[in-house]
Amino acid sequence: MITPEQFRFFADLVKASSGIALGKGKEYLLESRLNELAKVLGLKDLDELYRKARFQMTPKLKDQIIEAMTTNETYFFRDQHPFEALKNEIVPDLMANNNGRKQIRFWSAACSTGQEPYSIAMTLSEYFPGLSTWNTEILATDISQQAIQKGQAGRFTQVEVNRGLPVTLLIKYFKQQGAFWIVDSRLKKNMRFRRLNLLQPFVGIRDLDVIFCRYVLIYFDQQTKKQIIEKLVKVLRPGGYLVLGATETPVGMPSVMQRKMFGRALCWQKNL
Ligand SMILES: C[S@@+](CC[C@H](N)C(=O)[O-])C[C@H]1O[C@@H](n2cnc3c(N)ncnc32)[C@H](O)[C@@H]1O
Repeated sequence: MITPEQFRFFADLVKASSGIALGKGKEYLLESRLNELAKVLGLKDLDELYRKARFQMTPKLKDQIIEAMTTNETYFFRDQHPFEALKNEIVPDLMANNNGRKQIRFWSAACSTGQEPYSIAMTLSEYFPGLSTWNTEILATDISQQAIQKGQAGRFTQVEVNRGLPVTLLIKYFKQQGAFWIVDSRLKKNMRFRRLNLLQPFVGIRDLDVIFCRYVLIYFDQQTKKQIIEKLVKVLRPGGYLVLGATETPVGMPSVMQRKMFGRALCWQKNL
């Protein structure tokens, strides 16, 4: 059993480093994830992991603890409606407004293992052939190095491609290799994966037209949520869009952002 002192120590560490808030009631989650990590590291138990973290902490161990506490649940075309909104409203609007620059930049700001940015790339490839002469970029970031590596490899199991991906798109954009499905290089062409902690400064990230930041703010407290939303809005171009998770009602959305309902997708557009 995790002791209250151990829980406080790990919860504080995780909150300070990643923003993930582990309040009361999360003892079991922390205990089971860290027991698993202790096993992977060849330690006897959670007590030994606690002593190591407390008295011999290294940057690597800290990363491993954070990594263990992230929830990487994701699937292709999650919630569907935001991708309908991209197809029917957002990209047509941006193409009309950015015709001079011929550039559109997307950011999947907690991309997990890549299903979200690849879903964006498939939407663009399927419905906007005209973008082939544009400079289109998709930036995909996450705090989890393991998730980023998996996304970059673009290698998915049968179970993963069965979740949300229409079979026509599977056949068109993936190649089967043994037990895995590998993403076609066409989808990866304009995509860049990078490790990024949303709590830290967004170095080198600016002038975005569309930001997907879905199902990550739910892990943060109100103040952290508000700070991250402000930072996201800052790097958005005028007229750009922010898409949050379906269940996420942001407190403190800056007044430059207008609420837009596209079909059943709630999006936020920055004033022009
Ligand atoms: C539940 S997944 C959501 C993935 C995807 N956006 C979706 O909607 O399917 C949440 C992701 O947020 C990442 N995450 C948690 N805290 C983070 C932070 N401080 N900075 C960046 N990513 C973070 C986790 O590693 C995880 O991959």
